Amino acid sequence: MQDLTFLGIESSCDDTAAAVVRAERGAGQILASEVEGQVALHAAYGGVVPEIAARAHAEKLDHVIERALAAAGLGLDALDGIAVTAGPGLIGGVLSGVMLAKGLAAATGLPLVGVNHLAGHALTPRLTDGLAFPYLMLLVSGGHCQFLVVKGAAEFHRLGGTIDDAPGEAFDKTARLLGLGQPGGPLVEAEAIRGDPARFHFPRPLLDRPGCDMSFSGLKTALLRARDGLIAAQGGLHVQDRADLCAGFQLAVTEVLAEKTRRALQQYRALNPAVPALAVAGGVAANRLIRERLQAVCAETGATFVAPPLRLCTDNAAMIAWAGIERFRQGGSDGMGLSARPRWPLDQAAPAMLGSGRKGAKA
Ligand code: KG4
Ligand code: ZN
Repeated sequence: MQDLTFLGIESSCDDTAAAVVRAERGAGQILASEVEGQVALHAAYGGVVPEIAARAHAEKLDHVIERALAAAGLGLDALDGIAVTAGPGLIGGVLSGVMLAKGLAAATGLPLVGVNHLAGHALTPRLTDGLAFPYLMLLVSGGHCQFLVVKGAAEFHRLGGTIDDAPGEAFDKTARLLGLGQPGGPLVEAEAIRGDPARFHFPRPLLDRPGCDMSFSGLKTALLRARDGLIAAQGGLHVQDRADLCAGFQLAVTEVLAEKTRRALQQYRALNPAVPALAVAGGVAANRLIRERLQAVCAETGATFVAPPLRLCTDNAAMIAWAGIERFRQGGSDGMGLSARPRWPLDQAAPAMLGSGRKGAKA
């Protein structure tokens, strides 16, 4: 197998990222991975503002790429190709990355490979753990939530996903409702540690229905009602109320994810994989309770649990470089006609997802 070194570029949401990845005899090595977030730029607006994100990507991308190449100790002449996120995501940001990648490819004559951002997440366990196909992937972040059977570098089968909000989005909204900061996930988790998860009972949406689809938007309405009930009854929220609300909310999300994962594993195991494995990706996979419960579901069913390091679970460009290498090895590459796609489901045969996340329609 030919050794390949790729530059990866990611700008589909609120992280401007560049990375250099080398694949030697099939195994991946990250030579550099630079990520520049935009949390401060969007802080005043309570969510990612697409125009601000796009402008920041356009301003920062070339610096971030220079930093990645310098950290890898390589020049453009040492590369075998350029991989760039071509969707799905916020179109202005995706365009910034695609245009820059085209410019670099035109100037250097290097192959240009457009990558689906979700394929980047889904193929990460092969970069970090050398996981063989097929495996089950749970993508769970602020913008995505879906179960995918990853059968090959370009072969994905979606078993189900959220029909409205992504879980990270629900954590962020909960934090906002309770006056905590952003991103909300880690802050809600910290509150929940001191809380009683049994005091408030929040709904477990869609558990009564078969299949692996999920819904999280009703949870925030339930939380809002519980919060307003307390405020009406006692004039405000006590410290313990907030902790109990967070604990109840976190447990509801966790139980939905655990039960739907159990079902997804059942469907996936029917394919008789040699080594049944569940891999997770996305910021929500950082949550300790969620991780523990998913691990327990895997232990119950004899599946291996694979969780890449957090910096590679969240948005980064190493996953884009790696997915580009995998696609290139299969003969895939694009010319100057490569276009940016706001929507780009991995499984083209699956019915369209109904919802779209805070960070834009994903897939
Ligand atoms: O994967 P990610 O960095 O970005 C995308 O959404 O693409 O995920 C960020 C999301 C945010 O919504 C954040 O609140 C959530 O992941 N998150 C968490 C935790 N850490 C981050 N949610 C629950 N518990 C956490 N510890
Ligand atoms: Zn992502």
